[in-house]
Amino acid sequence: MSRYILMGIISISLCVSAGAQLKVVNLLTDNLVEPSGIDNPRPRFSWQLTSPKRNTVQQAYEIRVRSNSPSRITWTSGKVKSPNSVLVEYQGPDFSPASIYSWQVRVWDNHGQSSGWSSAARWQTGIGGPENWKAGWITAELKEDTVRRPGQLFRKQFPVSRKLRSAVAFITSHGMYEAFINGQRLGKGIFTPGWTSYNKRLQYQAYDVTDILKQGQNAIGVALASGWYRTVLGWQDNDNIYGKTLGLLMQVHLQYEDGTEEDVVTDGSWKATDQGPVRSSELYNGETYDANFEQKNWSSDPFDDSKWKNVTAGSKDVRNIVATSSENVSSHDTFAVKKLITTPKGEKVIDFGQNLVGWAEITVKGKKGDTIKITHAEVLDKDGNFYTANLRTAKQENIFVLNGEEQTYHPHFTFQGFRYIRVEGYNGDLQPKSFRAVALYSSMRPAGSFSCSDSMLNQLQHNIQWGQLGNFVDVPTDCPQRDERLGWTGDAQAFARTATFNRNSLNFFSKWLKDLAADQLPSGAVPHVIPNVLGAGGGSTGWSDAATIIPWTLYTVYGDTQILRQQYASMKAWVHYMEEQSRNDLWNTGWHFGDWLFYKPNDDLDGSSAVTDKSMIAQTFWANSTQLMINTASVLGLKEDSVRYAGWLKRIKAAFMKEYVTPSGRLISGTQTAYVLALNFDMLPDSLRPQAALRLVENVKRYDYHLTTGFLGTPYLCQVLSRFGHDDVAYKLLLQKTYPSWLYPVTMGATTIWERWDGQKPDSSFQTVGMNSFNHYAYGAIGDWMYRVVAGLDNAAPGYSKMLIHPHPDTSLNFAKARFESPYGTVVSGWERKAGVMTLNLTIPANTSAELVLPGAAPVALKENGKPVQGDNQFANIKEEGNNTRMTIGSGTYLFTYPLR
Ligand code: BGC
Repeated sequence: MSRYILMGIISISLCVSAGAQLKVVNLLTDNLVEPSGIDNPRPRFSWQLTSPKRNTVQQAYEIRVRSNSPSRITWTSGKVKSPNSVLVEYQGPDFSPASIYSWQVRVWDNHGQSSGWSSAARWQTGIGGPENWKAGWITAELKEDTVRRPGQLFRKQFPVSRKLRSAVAFITSHGMYEAFINGQRLGKGIFTPGWTSYNKRLQYQAYDVTDILKQGQNAIGVALASGWYRTVLGWQDNDNIYGKTLGLLMQVHLQYEDGTEEDVVTDGSWKATDQGPVRSSELYNGETYDANFEQKNWSSDPFDDSKWKNVTAGSKDVRNIVATSSENVSSHDTFAVKKLITTPKGEKVIDFGQNLVGWAEITVKGKKGDTIKITHAEVLDKDGNFYTANLRTAKQENIFVLNGEEQTYHPHFTFQGFRYIRVEGYNGDLQPKSFRAVALYSSMRPAGSFSCSDSMLNQLQHNIQWGQLGNFVDVPTDCPQRDERLGWTGDAQAFARTATFNRNSLNFFSKWLKDLAADQLPSGAVPHVIPNVLGAGGGSTGWSDAATIIPWTLYTVYGDTQILRQQYASMKAWVHYMEEQSRNDLWNTGWHFGDWLFYKPNDDLDGSSAVTDKSMIAQTFWANSTQLMINTASVLGLKEDSVRYAGWLKRIKAAFMKEYVTPSGRLISGTQTAYVLALNFDMLPDSLRPQAALRLVENVKRYDYHLTTGFLGTPYLCQVLSRFGHDDVAYKLLLQKTYPSWLYPVTMGATTIWERWDGQKPDSSFQTVGMNSFNHYAYGAIGDWMYRVVAGLDNAAPGYSKMLIHPHPDTSLNFAKARFESPYGTVVSGWERKAGVMTLNLTIPANTSAELVLPGAAPVALKENGKPVQGDNQFANIKEEGNNTRMTIGSGTYLFTYPLR
């Protein structure tokens, strides 16, 4: 045999054996990729298995943890017989603060294979607790300009005298900060320290700065601006909510090669100035950046800070300071100019083609002192003019003062919601290459995609995703442009499940839920917005239920029991509040938003507004939250509680039947939302459900296949129709193109989800002025149905340890496909129908299985990869079920085909 042939054989067999391997990939620490600043003494490790073999299940795992310096193994789990591979809690000794660790895992599967050690995933521990803060708060002794409120710069020079082993910077602030060491920006996070209920929970960030420091003189520079801390928030004149004065708390922990340690901290030795380039900065109104105030090399050494002021060293109270456990906001997609427009009014306007949240960046050279003003808007009006009335009092205006050199400008401590910008003060014609739009949002990992044969539905999916990105800016906001941008609880709970399909939302929501619990009122009522900047008020049905619905959603999607433990007291307090408010088992007191923005025709002379009785809605959400308490208590093994809440639920449902349902099953409000909620939350006895579903169908038909639901009914509308066998009606609603419907905004060129079904009328006039956002994710909650029902990608057990793959095809589509990054790996469910033959493409990740329902399949006619399925022993429990075939499948990639019957 020639040498070449032999080498060929060897390399092929190497490939085969490498390809036939069981592998461990995608290691996550506390559900994050190589995080920094973890103070959790029991971090949770997740990994995924890949294997070319079908039906792969993990039988055992072993984890080992290594410290970086000195490099040694500090803990191994030993071989643990267990299928667990998601959020597995560390059980070893305590970690040292400000240190780097890494972990690896190896696994054994049911085919007798072992993976060998995975590559290592690093993380860095945080400061370790309040006792380790040596720094104190510093503020600048600067005369407060309460009108313009310029940003402030803080600075400190310090020597590093010996060889460094490692250095970590811990930072937080009152206001937003941007930090530099030796001229280098720390991290990619924007709007740090993020937004939390500051007085109770203020996050710090940790940065590994080992490579930025040098032996000799070093300098730290930190820029501060108002941010959420003291900007106007809410539509009232509501500023200084958390405090009046900007402040900085920073500690750089140095570890030297010789084993000694040192901390550089904020104290009276720092200097500050308000003579930096950020001349004013507000979230709603925008920023003024004057390049003539730039201080060259201000965060480096050497720099002359003799004109800077001394700082005041203040409080050392760090009790509210917590580690950051979610992804920071950072910059992502960039959009080029799509169109240059001169409007009928003669304004210079740029269209970026996408409604997004972030800022416009411009590269220009002008004369020193030239001032460019950029105003942001979501839409043009009927006449094609720039439209800002829907922003209410938010100016959304950035002003750049040029210094005569070519420079790139963007603001630093503000963001805008926009698709269009109006440019003033720019000499000559606008040059497209000078302008870009940059999208900023929380850096959650992408999770899913949905596509199908209908391009308008694909645009709807795009709009849902962009509605999410624009409103996941550290907290889930209602909208990102007008004078709100607040963490409205009702919107968040309505959209939560859909959010998890598009982005990994576990850490994002877990963080916000901590603030929800922190701001919950002593009565148990949950404020309307979290963080609560609106003061008193709360307890509205469907809004406060974020307290129960979101933790349960996270548990369902990520299999995380910790979130249920974390939120249990808060969930309980909310359910007890409702019980407390009720009389004779009816909750009909208090103020409620109701089925917010349900469809109400302009000229409602025939009374066709879809008004749903608010007390009836309250009773259904109360029942649902009580049900979620029963579920949660049983997951957590709190038997007494689950029995108690089961007793409550019985009473709540009985009272509902007595008060709101006639003996023949008619509800006192005949709206879509009434039937949807009663059915979705199982308020009716089995016997009354099918005909209640028919009443819902009748209602939809009466409106000529239009929906009339608001924020509370919409998320469940199609789910309920499908559950009771009315897919056809659900599809007709989804594909409806005249308003109210999901696709109407698409026909109008929308690139995000609108707040109102008819925000802009067919003649391009606006429905209303004041409350008319074009980027409001709530109605995007239909995404959940598109993934779970149209594409059929659903879970049958918490965390997708078992899938339910059950596509619901309809003749209106030729194909639909969803892909989802589950905690175990990629799941794919795609179907295509061609000439009466159905093809199903599936991927089920290793260490999971799936319950598969093949619509319109006769078991005898079924083929997988061209081979008949019947009798093949790799498919378990094949059952004919009505018109469908049901079976259980293990992990792997499958291609099923069958003639539709
Ligand atoms: C917000 C909402 C919110 C609502 C309360 C509005 O101003 O934009 O989306 O849920 O108020 O009903």
